[in-house]
Amino acid sequence: MPTTTWNRHHVLSLSDFTTAEYDTVLQTAASFQEVLSRRTKKVPTLQGQVVANLFFESSTRTRSSFEIAAKRLSADTLNFAAATSSMTKGETILDTAKTYLAMGTDIMVIRHREAGVPNAIAAEMDRLSVRVSVLNAGDGQHEHPSQALLDLFTICTLIDPANPRLQLLKGKKIAIVGDILHSRVARSNIWSLIASGAQVHLAAPPTLLPKLFAEYFSEETGDSSQDLFTISSSLPLPHSPLPLIPNPQLFLHWQLEPALQDADFVMTLRLQKERMTAHLLPSLREYHQLFGITRAKLQLCKPNVKVLHPGPVNRGVEISSDLMDDPEFSLIQSQVTSGVAVRMALLYLLGSGKA
Ligand code: NCD
Repeated sequence: MPTTTWNRHHVLSLSDFTTAEYDTVLQTAASFQEVLSRRTKKVPTLQGQVVANLFFESSTRTRSSFEIAAKRLSADTLNFAAATSSMTKGETILDTAKTYLAMGTDIMVIRHREAGVPNAIAAEMDRLSVRVSVLNAGDGQHEHPSQALLDLFTICTLIDPANPRLQLLKGKKIAIVGDILHSRVARSNIWSLIASGAQVHLAAPPTLLPKLFAEYFSEETGDSSQDLFTISSSLPLPHSPLPLIPNPQLFLHWQLEPALQDADFVMTLRLQKERMTAHLLPSLREYHQLFGITRAKLQLCKPNVKVLHPGPVNRGVEISSDLMDDPEFSLIQSQVTSGVAVRMALLYLLGSGKA
């Protein structure tokens, strides 16, 4: 394992991650990737520790990925699903967390539809002075740090498999396309990509951009033909507003093409229909025509462009079905594979000090 120091007790957001921390995660994940390629894919690192997956919101890949990651590290795992828990009898979130604490949980992996729930549980664990680490597995529209770290790992190992590091993305053009308004994945990715020195281009229809951005468009320009801006204010989020702006690495487009032009990587986002409280799009067909990623549209990008998507995918909406399955362009399956190594790295870094 890499010997770099790691002092973080919880992973709630990437807003204050340092370059050294990113590199520690990337290098630790690389060594676990190697473990996962062996015949015996298990190490005894977290033997005797308990990892509880507290998912108050649905999930397929994140929950399974944390579970297999914990098992590969020989931890004992507890899986909680809100729908079949005592929450249906009125138990609160904090009381649920304390129940798992009383069973000897060392690491709580938490997903909730409300922003800030993992922070609140972490604060309660700290107040109780217990050595329990909290890992945010996605909170509302706020952050999804392990997803952004696995995206980073997927891209960095593609560039340099032997030595993935943050610096590899310096100067690369990365487009993030789609439902940015509702996306915790986008918010975490923006932090890591800005930290890497990449040029980050956000592209979405104005209704799927945070309100502040949309206002900026109309106030500053009044001209929809001029579509490239450096953002001049921050997102109104409770825990981690976006990097302070003007930020020369962050660009905003309400058309797809300027974001794709010469891009090295394209990150597509799912249309989060379950979070849409109003009609934000005329139709899915029109959305696909204007913002859906297809092989033809990728012609605008660098020849070796690769496409990412955190999943689950609305096939034929944010990305065409054939492109999604095309191994020449799509990194979607390798994101899922990377997820296990990256989550092993995070659990190891949070848990190894506790043995
Ligand atoms: C994302 C999530 O839940 O935030 N998915 C995931 O964790 N793999 C993105 C999404 O739901 O669209």
